This record gives sequence, C-alpha cells and structure tokens, in this order.
Amino acid sequence: MLLNQNCPGEGQDLAPAPGPDGAGSPRSEGGEDWTPNLVGFCCNWCSYAGADLAGINRLQYPPNLRIIRVLCSSRVNPMFILRALQKGADGVLVAGCHPGDCHYSTGNYYTRRRFHIFQRHLEFFGLDPARVQLEWVSAAEGKRFADVVTEMTERVRKLGPNTRFRSNLL
Ligand code: FES
Repeated sequence: MLLNQNCPGEGQDLAPAPGPDGAGSPRSEGGEDWTPNLVGFCCNWCSYAGADLAGINRLQYPPNLRIIRVLCSSRVNPMFILRALQKGADGVLVAGCHPGDCHYSTGNYYTRRRFHIFQRHLEFFGLDPARVQLEWVSAAEGKRFADVVTEMTERVRKLGPNTRFRSNLL
C-alpha cells in the first residue's frame, strides 16, 4: 500500500475483533498464543524491495506485519507512528535504505536523527521505546528483513499488548 497523504478517512483500526464468546481475544489477555500487530513503514527503493525479496525467496517470518510503502523513510512523520500505536498497533517498524544509499541522498540521515529524538519522547507518552524500531534494509537483504520482523515480533510479544491508547478505541 502506498501512503496516500490525501486519505479522507481516519485510517483503519488495528484493534482485534472480540472472540466468538464475546469475551475478548487471547490478544487482549496477552495469552501464550498472542501475536502482536506490527505496522511497518518501508521505503519504496530498498526496504520494500527487501520485503518483496523475502517473499520471492519464500522466507518464513511472522505474518503479523502490515507494510505501508513510503517513497523514503524520511517521509515518516513521527505522528504516523503515534497514530499507528493509537489505532491498535503493538509495535511500529520504520525501515529505509542504508546510510549513504538513500535515493534522495540524505533522507535517511533526517530519519535517523528524528527517530532518536522521537524515541526519547515515547516514554513521556507512557510507551516503551522498544515498541518502535528503525532498521536499514537494502533491496538485496530479504533474509535480513525476515530476521528483523521475527526479532521485533518476539521483542514486542514479551512487552505484551499496547494498552496505552486502548481506551480511546472503545
Ligand atoms: S529512499 Fe530509502 S531511505 Fe530514502
């Protein structure tokens, strides 16, 4: 999905549907089989292609990542990350080209600086900074992309469901 900045809607909630018995899903209970919802902002030129390569090579990684394609990692406004967390994401991945490889020359340098400042603010918002991750993945690193998603899924699973903004969804 290519990010449409003119989207008139409020976006899509990632909150889980209640279970068939109406008692909520294992996700909300943080059960053993709970799998976190992850949102990944991937730059079109490297990381998205890396994700594509992982798929082409049939590499196994958790299917719980929803990828949003952006032209450059520097397009990811920190508000996008907060909005994803507010809408029910348990973790957010921002992935871009390796430093020096950005197709817009210096975009990922801005991303790196902005991301580290943003991470420091997360605690102020009551969120664990480990819920967000910045990674460089090139178009040739399908295996690395699969590893990043796998590791992030395990880390966020240990943190449990993101309940910080949950009351806003009800
Ligand atoms: S084009 Fe990939 S990070 Fe800028």
